Amino acid sequence: MNSVRSFAIGAAATLGVAASAVAAPQHHPLAALIGDVPDTSNWPHPAATAGNPFVRSTAPAPDIQLRDQIAQLGKTLFWDEQLSSDHTMSCGTCHLPSAGGTDSRMGAVHANGNFGAFGVVPQAVSAFGTVDYGFLNPPSAEFDREVTPVTPPTMIGAYLFEFLFWDRRAGPDFDDMFGNPLPQFAQFGALEDLAVEPPLSPVEMGHEALDWPSGFIQAKLDPAFPLALVDPSTIPPDIQWITGMGAPYAKIFDIVFNGHPEPLLGAVNGVTRERLAAAIAHYHRTLIPDQAPIDLGTMTYDQMEGFRIMERSSCFRCHSASQNPQFGPNGLLVDPFDNLFSDGEFHSINIDVPRKTATLRNVGLHVKFTSTGHGGDGSTRVFVNNQSDLIDFYEQEFPPLGTGPLTPLERQQFADFLFNALTDPRVAAETFPFDRPQLYSELHPFEGNEYGLGTPPIGSPIVPNIIANSPPLILPNGGIDWFKVGVGDAPPNAVAWLLIDPAPAANHPLWVAGPAVILPTNPINAQGIGTVQQPVALAPAMLGVPFYAQWMMYDGVSRVFSNAAELIPFHW
Ligand code: HEC
Ligand code: HEC
Repeated sequence: MNSVRSFAIGAAATLGVAASAVAAPQHHPLAALIGDVPDTSNWPHPAATAGNPFVRSTAPAPDIQLRDQIAQLGKTLFWDEQLSSDHTMSCGTCHLPSAGGTDSRMGAVHANGNFGAFGVVPQAVSAFGTVDYGFLNPPSAEFDREVTPVTPPTMIGAYLFEFLFWDRRAGPDFDDMFGNPLPQFAQFGALEDLAVEPPLSPVEMGHEALDWPSGFIQAKLDPAFPLALVDPSTIPPDIQWITGMGAPYAKIFDIVFNGHPEPLLGAVNGVTRERLAAAIAHYHRTLIPDQAPIDLGTMTYDQMEGFRIMERSSCFRCHSASQNPQFGPNGLLVDPFDNLFSDGEFHSINIDVPRKTATLRNVGLHVKFTSTGHGGDGSTRVFVNNQSDLIDFYEQEFPPLGTGPLTPLERQQFADFLFNALTDPRVAAETFPFDRPQLYSELHPFEGNEYGLGTPPIGSPIVPNIIANSPPLILPNGGIDWFKVGVGDAPPNAVAWLLIDPAPAANHPLWVAGPAVILPTNPINAQGIGTVQQPVALAPAMLGVPFYAQWMMYDGVSRVFSNAAELIPFHW
């Protein structure tokens, strides 16, 4: 059963009508700023058929404005690092358009040997039994960032899949937070179903035992100001009305959703799981990569030859909905579902676990390939590190294909089609609708704020390491100012203090000049890990002004120091 095709059959009648209804480019409310939304009337919109309250593509005016506002809210959320428990990971951190919608950070090797994506620093359920969104508890559990066991597939074009994730576990239905079916989302809900997962995941953005019914994510986001961590000058024009409002998410969610005809979205207040899911899913449905050479009819002779080589090599057995993509007289793909270059189905290629066939759109921008990516655990799976490896793999390691040895010219044509003809230049250049703000973590890379050296305990080579991964939050109008700093590789069960000072110092081992503030902390545990996570009075004048922190410990014999870190407060 071919899931993408099953959409085509189910949606065909609707599409026939819709195609003529939306033939003209739709006028975007902010057209003066960003131009019209692209005309995608020759693309199918399987997630937008009649009856789907999350309609994106074919909504008539005046719904278009509502639809666009929801998508813009989704875009804001997708790029907001405040969605993660420690303000360090946005969805987009792992899904960069310039990397084809995948992760561009190298070096993340999972314990299973696979090359995934860095996520959050693990956080355990607190000893106090409270599970929140990281504000007060729980403490850090380790000091290295988690790594996803698989690489991120792209979100660009993902709206065409009936099922999402490499193991197709998301979709087609979207249930409520207790797992009860929502009849109005019985189908076309894969994007919504997926969007509510990463904020919970203790690997990606959340922490152990975090869930939606506890209300902590909603409570964290309600008072948060959209994109508070981002340099305002990098915020895309179409979402500036959101960030420029000077209002917290709770209010923005109400402005956008109140009165929505779907009661689950319209008749509730503030940030809710379903509103967040709808917003992010709507945003995904605007990410239509339809201006690659293959869409514009501007493929070169060599690229067309490359297409023919892929045809001969039976690539389209899996990387196509029709299994035999053809061009019509207008130069467009006859079956619009072929635009995804995937059948959406399971196949075993380089690992014995079946995986959903990846879309080939924008694959020329990827820095890692296939779900397993690069690794080195000595298993039988093949790691595909770069474009050349990928061609080698399909030429040599996957005999059923019989691509056989390609001549140098054929190899070049094959690569030209695969890595250039399917690349939308707007994705590569991150221009609308693929534009985005610069992330805080790009300006201040993970652990790039650490400096100096610690001192090991007497008789031990292990130097304690500061875990300084959370930008501190200042609430100028009262409330709880908050930050969390941890230490790892500390002497087990030592007593610890966090030294804080407005100025760095250069005298090893005291990299922090003097203890202007000493914070009591949780004791260092038997694994040598400790965390301070309690409210700190940070003055509004400290906004954007760095301060410095270092751990001092006493193990019963001597004083032991960690390295130090620079911390830059932000506010809502
Ligand atoms: C730490 C990195 C990371 C973060 C943060 C992250 N993702 Fe992902 N994303 C992944 C990985 C890894 C997968 C594949 C997981 C799997 O298949 O089991 C994935 C899969 C997806 C897919 C599926 C695409 C397909 O074709 O199957 C979409 C869509 C997506 N993520 C959107 C999001 C959204 C929305 C957020 C934020 C709410 C988000 N991601 C946050 C790493 C990340
Ligand atoms: C039997 C089905 C099948 C055939 C035939 C096939 N592929 Fe794939 N392809 C897959 C699957 C499944 C994946 C994902 C594998 C994984 O992640 O483990 C994939 C992954 C890829 C990727 C990596 C995409 C990414 O996001 O990292 C590229 C590129 C690719 N295939 C190109 C080709 C080319 C070129 C051919 C023909 C020479 C081909 N494939 C033939 C099923 C197939």
